Amino acid sequence: MRHLLSTEGIDPGLATAVLDTAARLKQALEGREVRKLPTLRGRTVITVFYENSTRTRVSFEIAGKWMSADVVNVSSSGSSVGKGESLRDTALTLAAAGADCVIVRHPASGAAHRLAGWLHEAGTSVVNAGDGTHEHPTQALLDAATLRERLGDLRDRRVAIVGDVLHSRVARSNVHLLTALGAEVTLIAPPTLLPAGVENWPVHVSHELDAELPSQDAVMLLRVQAERMHGGFFPSAREYSIAYGLNENRLRLLPDHAVVLHPGPMLRGMEIASSVADSPRAAITDQVRNGVHVRMAVLYHLLAHEEETS
Ligand code: CP
Repeated sequence: MRHLLSTEGIDPGLATAVLDTAARLKQALEGREVRKLPTLRGRTVITVFYENSTRTRVSFEIAGKWMSADVVNVSSSGSSVGKGESLRDTALTLAAAGADCVIVRHPASGAAHRLAGWLHEAGTSVVNAGDGTHEHPTQALLDAATLRERLGDLRDRRVAIVGDVLHSRVARSNVHLLTALGAEVTLIAPPTLLPAGVENWPVHVSHELDAELPSQDAVMLLRVQAERMHGGFFPSAREYSIAYGLNENRLRLLPDHAVVLHPGPMLRGMEIASSVADSPRAAITDQVRNGVHVRMAVLYHLLAHEEETS
């Protein structure tokens, strides 16, 4: 694997290999006092985030450090990005400074693909840590890792993705990955929060949460992304929570084995009731924990796997 930019068209064999590596890393490291492997010693990983992040940035930093890579974090404030430097010049600067891998989050859909093009000759790998409303592939991988832990093989499992699909890179990456792994995905949202052309996606679409919950093995709530809503008609927080919020009554509609996911950050009381988010049915902290192992696995497959197998 040279880059990880998207889960669209991902080879299910490669996705499974990354998930298996993450599971092995988790098993090997959990309970150990020192969680450090020498695998990426001498390699340099640079994270460059043009949008806010807690989970993704921190877990990539921890993942790199637990693999013994040198990890450098760049944010748009405090770097030359704040002086107006272009993404291309920033990318070439990071490659010239010795980056083996650049992990990028950017508000523009397609930014990670552009970066990969500019860094091709330098031989630097690129990971998309979220580009606009387009994709967030490592989030989908950590969601799949969490679902596999709770449900086993995902073939024919039914996963509902609920809420602001229109603005969600998490939803797009999950649709591609979960369907590649054989799951059936249902998108549940008000019509104003579904993207144009959704009828061509390999999913079922519904506007009725209560009707869909009894047949799901997992339900993934999406954050309502107010910062990306420029005009348009969107429900109020109260309307949204009445129609699409996962509360305790709705939790009871799910089968007993069904898992509740949220990529975070959560808007408690809107997308998900606090009591549901904190219940044992929710795997939200497991998602964060698995995010570290999945990102370790991604760095391994990008920077070490081919060396070891060649
Ligand atoms: N899920 C996710 O991407 O969270 P952060 O924005 O905190 O990285």
